[in-house]
Amino acid sequence: MSSRPTSILFFILAFFGVLFQIAAAAPAVALERRDVYSPPVLYPHTGTVWYKGQTHNVTWDVSSPPVNITDKTGLITLRKSGIPTPLILADGFDILLGRVEVKVPWVIEGSDYSVVLFGDSGNWSEDFTIEQ
Ligand SMILES: *[C@@H]1O[C@H](CO)[C@@H](O)[C@H](O)[C@H]1NC(C)=O
Ligand SMILES: *[C@@H]1O[C@H](CO)[C@@H](O)[C@H](O)[C@H]1NC(C)=O
Ligand SMILES: *[C@@H]1O[C@H](CO)[C@@H](O)[C@H](O)[C@H]1NC(C)=O
Repeated sequence: MSSRPTSILFFILAFFGVLFQIAAAAPAVALERRDVYSPPVLYPHTGTVWYKGQTHNVTWDVSSPPVNITDKTGLITLRKSGIPTPLILADGFDILLGRVEVKVPWVIEGSDYSVVLFGDSGNWSEDFTIEQ
C-alpha cells in the first residue's frame, strides 16, 4: 500500500531532476561549441511503429560532418507533439557512428513521437508511432 505513493514521488523528483540537469548543462555547453553539427535523423521516420520494450537502432546521416566537431558525444531524447520530454533514450555515444541502439520506453501510445538527436545542437526525426 505505501510503496505506490513513494514511487510516484520518486518519479516526480526524477522528472524535475532531469529537467534541472538539462537546464543547468545547456548554457555552458552552447558556449564551448564551435562547429554546429546536427546530422539529419534517418530512422525512425513516418510510418515507423515501435512497441514498448523493443530495441531499435536510431540512425542518422554522417556523410558530411564538419572538420572540427568540438563535442562528438551524442544524446537522444524523445519528444511528443514537438514538445521535448525528459526521457533520454541514449547518451554518451559517438555522434559519428551514425546509429545507436535504444530501448522503447513505456509511454502512452501516440503517433506524434519523434526522437531528437543532439550533437552540437539538435535535430529531430519525422513523427512516428509508439504503441504498447
Ligand atoms: C536538420 O537536418 C536537416 C536535414 O534533414 C537540415 O536541413 C537542418 O539544417 C538540420 N538542422 C540543424 C539545426 O542543423
Ligand atoms: C543495430 O545495428 C547493429 C550494427 O549493424 C546490429 O549489430 C544490431 O543487431 C542492431 N540492433 C537492432 C536492434 O537491430
Ligand atoms: C580545425 O581546427 C584546427 C585546430 O584548431 C585548425 O587548425 C583548423 O584550421 C580547423 N579547420 C577548420 C576547417 O576549421
